[in-house]
Amino acid sequence: MKITRLFWDICKKNPIPLILLIVSVVGIVALQLVPPQILKTIVDDYLDKGIYDGVTTLAVIYLVAVLASYICEFFKTIFTTYIGQKAILEIRYRMSEKLARLPIRYYNKNAAGDVMSRFTQDVEAVNTMFSDGLVNMAVDLFKIIGIIVSVFIMNKSLFVYTLLIIPAVVVISNAFRKRVYAAQLQLRKAMGKMNSFIQEAFSGLRLFKIFGHENRLSRAFNPLVDEQIGIRRKVNRMDAIFPCVMQILKAIIICSFVVLTTKEVNLIVGVTVGTLAAAIDLLGRLFAPIEELATEFQTIQQVFAAFNRINEFLSEEEETRVINEESVKDGENDILFQNVSFAYDDNGDILHDVSFKVKRRLKVALVGRTGSGKTTILNLLAGLYPAGIGNITICDYDPFTMPVELRRRVIGIVPQTVTTFTGKIVDIITLGDEQISENDVIEALKAVGLYEDIEKLPEKHNTVIGEGESNLSFGQMQLLTLARAIVTNPPILLLDELTSGLDAVTEAQILKAVKSVSENRTIVTISHRLSGIIDADYVYVCSHGKIVEEGKPDELVKNNGWYAKYKQLEDMGWQAS
Ligand SMILES: Nc1ncnc2c1ncn2[C@@H]1O[C@H](COP(=O)(O)OP(=O)(O)OP(=O)(O)O)[C@@H](O)[C@H]1O
Ligand SMILES: [Mg+2]
Repeated sequence: MKITRLFWDICKKNPIPLILLIVSVVGIVALQLVPPQILKTIVDDYLDKGIYDGVTTLAVIYLVAVLASYICEFFKTIFTTYIGQKAILEIRYRMSEKLARLPIRYYNKNAAGDVMSRFTQDVEAVNTMFSDGLVNMAVDLFKIIGIIVSVFIMNKSLFVYTLLIIPAVVVISNAFRKRVYAAQLQLRKAMGKMNSFIQEAFSGLRLFKIFGHENRLSRAFNPLVDEQIGIRRKVNRMDAIFPCVMQILKAIIICSFVVLTTKEVNLIVGVTVGTLAAAIDLLGRLFAPIEELATEFQTIQQVFAAFNRINEFLSEEEETRVINEESVKDGENDILFQNVSFAYDDNGDILHDVSFKVKRRLKVALVGRTGSGKTTILNLLAGLYPAGIGNITICDYDPFTMPVELRRRVIGIVPQTVTTFTGKIVDIITLGDEQISENDVIEALKAVGLYEDIEKLPEKHNTVIGEGESNLSFGQMQLLTLARAIVTNPPILLLDELTSGLDAVTEAQILKAVKSVSENRTIVTISHRLSGIIDADYVYVCSHGKIVEEGKPDELVKNNGWYAKYKQLEDMGWQAS
């Protein structure tokens, strides 16, 4: 969906605000031409001829015209904001829908910061187009045209003079604006440097304190503050000078216009006193729109860049999963990997012709050194990616095209990295699934042995945890993710490095928790340590993306293969990290 199309849709859906917006724009442009004309009439047709009757009425009309133009200005702001907000809302809706539909590969390829800036800065830039950009640009352009036409009707030589001064105003205001803009850009960069320094310092504060680097921290920060202050002063100076220069220029143009109309110079002819008054008013009105136009033009250019980035995001290829309601009945095996080869990107296969199966209610371990492809196998079982070559079935379904509602009921997953959300414990476990009752959550917490710890928290299982809130220890977080995996009572559990990074006591506690939930379940534990594989009935050894050994643990110990060597090393107290 192109963003321009989206705008058109929004305009079509909101015809009344759009019409009122157009009316207010026409009002602003037309009404600004009325006061100078009234001024001319008052001077030429009344005061000059000594007629005073009716001047009051004209003065009132003058006032009404000025008031009415401000009212139009007010409505223009209201309607641009209204339509702009509608557009922003729609863009954000579409973008978040898109985000949910993008394949996991997109997240592998794109940095989180980049996607975030599309959602925030770029969408805000589109908003600016409404508040400062397009409509105001049209208003200013029409204002300039209106003034030029008025001047043409009033006096032809004044018209020529106006055409000559416009380029001068454009050149001078542009030169200044460019400098102001460059200084503002410098300021934004300096602010950015300062912000990222604060962010980094904040996240690494513990480290700074441990190493006693507090003084170095402030010493590194001070130059950034000084730089920022220096540039801010420059921007302030520019901001102060610019309006003065423009006022002086305006005075020079008006004075030279008056001089040109005098009998001595007589370059602008046929100017009545009224025309003089009206022309001074009109020329004065010419400045603001010329100055504004340049800024608006720059805004529009930036908005186009933002537009492109949003468009690019909205046109990203989506994941197409043809949901497969029918499953192929196997009956014997819960998990089946048949000759699977897989690559994350164009950098070559990570899995090479991997085949293995897991019988119903069996506890299987997948072991292998770091980087051997264990998590990749789990990612495929979890349905994050389609298998490149080969077949995968889990509970008789292809995990990639398995109906979504079924997925959580069939597979419980504890991923290798603990991802925390800020929220109530109960929500972190249910993930918003309304079919999971509070009682299910409590049962799951009890099953993993976390219930007592959670009960001690101020709001029990309704306590909010996450950044800046109550926090759980790493081991407790692991147990929480285990509770999340089993809360739907799935027949299959996939556990990736559940116990890595834990002390022996917590590891024992987690293994106990797993044992207590593993009855009548098919379990696949992934580990690069044999101590973490939890009473496996069968072991697959993975190396460089291949299954290189398989068998029952006691048989594997007897073979003189990878498993036996690893077991020996671990028994000697050495552990791979
Ligand atoms: N998202 C990804 N994009 C590209 N390559 C990846 C991605 N994730 C993993 N890899 C690569 O795939 C290979 C296998 O990684 P994987 O995470 O499956 O290993 P692992 O056996 O789980 O290791 P560990 O024991 O350290 O968790 C590695 O070479 C890794 O660099
Ligand atoms: Mg892994």
